[in-house]
Amino acid sequence: MIQLLEKNHPLRLSRLRRTPALRALTRETRLHPADLVQPLIVVENEAESGPVSSMPNVKRIALGAIEDAAQDIATSGVRATLVFGVPAEKNEWAGPASDPEGVVPRAVRAIRKAAPALAIITDVCLCQSSSHGHCGVLDGTEIDLDATLARLGAIAISHAEAGADLVAPSAMVDGQVAAIRRALDGGGHERVGVLSYAVKQASAFYGPFRDAASSAPAFGDRRAHQMDSANAREAIAEAAQDVAEGADAIMVKPGGTNLDLIRAIRDASPRRPIAAYQVSGEYAGLCAAAAAGVLDERAAALETLTALKRAGAALIITYWAARAARWLRENPS
Ligand code: PBG
Repeated sequence: MIQLLEKNHPLRLSRLRRTPALRALTRETRLHPADLVQPLIVVENEAESGPVSSMPNVKRIALGAIEDAAQDIATSGVRATLVFGVPAEKNEWAGPASDPEGVVPRAVRAIRKAAPALAIITDVCLCQSSSHGHCGVLDGTEIDLDATLARLGAIAISHAEAGADLVAPSAMVDGQVAAIRRALDGGGHERVGVLSYAVKQASAFYGPFRDAASSAPAFGDRRAHQMDSANAREAIAEAAQDVAEGADAIMVKPGGTNLDLIRAIRDASPRRPIAAYQVSGEYAGLCAAAAAGVLDERAAALETLTALKRAGAALIITYWAARAARWLRENPS
């Protein structure tokens, strides 16, 4: 019957695309400033602040400039920030990362003061604070799991005490969500949530960030603990494991190369929001292409962000967040 009708009255799908109003009426995915999360890279040593050469419009922010940065995010319409801290001193066990007076707790308090309504998420890892640049405490050249989990718990507590809403463990070590949940609950921080980097791949797209956050490993790489980007079934197992350990939301990273995984996890675990991280290399690559005049930055950025949302991401971490929010306010999607 339907086939017959279609034969007599050929369906022209383009009828609904003819005008801007018709396209708006039938648009399935709308990107909104509230979907976006702005990363902030905060440096304790003011001399290290300033532009990141590979990432146009991204700055390493000194603690003294954090209030302006937070207000800029809030006035753009973005409702959340993800804070990375780069301490002035580093050591073998990333001691500065759990200092209650360290760079992240100080940044969190300054953001809370300048823009009280902003949701504050903090990256919990050792690599920015460890002398060797690895994401855990080392035993020889390998990660010592128990020692690392204890450190991650202590770091999460220092962030929670400063007022973080969510902590985001990015070390990709087994058991990190359970260890952090236990530490937070034990410290009276039952209200603080865990946004786990559940599917974080060993990726070629983190290069610009490692320069920006001074977190490149001094030797070797992260392939023994970050995921192999070729594996989809394993990615779903990682997400399920983090949900079982108590993650409140789960992240897929990088976002742009993993739209299929975002969709698969969205369908497998509908009760947990998924965050997609559009990482530094995705951003820098498109910016470089725009600077070379081969594509339009604004249109390309909004298209990639919409694709992440269409794939099933509820929140999108992107270096374009505040600028994209302003573009969307000029031209709502
Ligand atoms: C630290 C961390 C990294 C990123 C976020 N947290 C780098 C890494 O794992 O090497 C990457 C962010 C980006 O590239 O934008 N564990």
